[in-house]
Amino acid sequence: MTTTHAHAKVSPDAYLPMMGKVVEVREMTARENYFRLELPRPLGHRPGQFVMVSVLGIGEAPISISNGPTTTNTLELVIRRAGRLTQVLSELKPGDLMGIRGPFGSGFDMSWFDGKEILIVAGGLGLVPLRSLIQPLVANADKYPSITLLSGCRNPAEELYREEVREWSKHPKLRVIRLVDGTENMPWDGEVGLVTAPIPKLDIKPDRTIAVLCGPPVMYKFVIIGLNQKNLPHDRIFVDLERRMKCGVGKCGHCQINDVYCCQDGPVFRFSEIEHLPEALL
Ligand SMILES: Cc1cc2nc3c(=O)[nH]c(=O)nc-3n(C[C@H](O)[C@H](O)[C@H](O)COP(=O)(O)OP(=O)(O)OC[C@H]3O[C@@H](n4cnc5c(N)ncnc54)[C@H](O)[C@@H]3O)c2cc1C
Ligand code: FES
Repeated sequence: MTTTHAHAKVSPDAYLPMMGKVVEVREMTARENYFRLELPRPLGHRPGQFVMVSVLGIGEAPISISNGPTTTNTLELVIRRAGRLTQVLSELKPGDLMGIRGPFGSGFDMSWFDGKEILIVAGGLGLVPLRSLIQPLVANADKYPSITLLSGCRNPAEELYREEVREWSKHPKLRVIRLVDGTENMPWDGEVGLVTAPIPKLDIKPDRTIAVLCGPPVMYKFVIIGLNQKNLPHDRIFVDLERRMKCGVGKCGHCQINDVYCCQDGPVFRFSEIEHLPEALL
């Protein structure tokens, strides 16, 4: 199979974690905490890459890089409590250390977006890695005829990066549509409906638009149905996939889907590269 990705270069930090110091922690929702870390050196990442985060004696997990590329030593993460490791991570305070390996994965090549109309669809935690792409897109908005963000979550209390998303929505080049599945009687100034609901009304030009999706597996299926109705070719749809990962460097096989290694070939793929793999979007 041909992929658009050369195997990502394995960084010098691939095997030995560097210690990142927590300099800011903020509760974002009942389940997610935002962390800003200071690293011994700049990470040198691309949007869409991830790091392996560890706590000595507890374990290690893949976590998306949430800030755009930077020349500073800053790393931003959002961590949802899922099990033992993420619970321990969620209890860390300023001054505590996290082990960081990476960056891993191929991520997004910013040149793909030059001159294109861009549609970004983020479901729930999917906004966390996509923020690393949205930040440089917004910073260079003149390069793109239009940028549309559909950002959906289950209810208003689960909205991530709420102040920043509101700031983006004031940008003249950016159209932001914020949706919740239901308001559950909470105040809400966005739309109510699934993140797919606005797609039929969007002006999607099949030869000029690029779509980027990240969210729960069920979201991909319905977004792609919507994009098919707009005749958007599958090599113009980029999906960001989550898989169980262990090594991050193509050695252990944990993240393998047939001949594709998510940790190295992904987690960002053109949909045309993986649509023949039935288990890719499970
Ligand atoms: C490329 C990538 C990027 C990720 N980015 C983030 C991120 O930015 N923020 C974040 O909070 N999480 C992210 N995750 C998920 C995160 O890695 C898992 O939640 C974490 O490994 C759980 O570890 P644990 O030891 O706390 O829980 P465990 O005890 O291992 O698991 C707790 C529960 O979560 C489920 N689970 C664990 N890992 C995954 C997974 N990868 N996919 C689906 N279900 C899983 C388990 O089945 C179990 O039900 C990412 C995963 C990948 C592969
Ligand atoms: S995580 Fe080990 S091969 Fe991908």
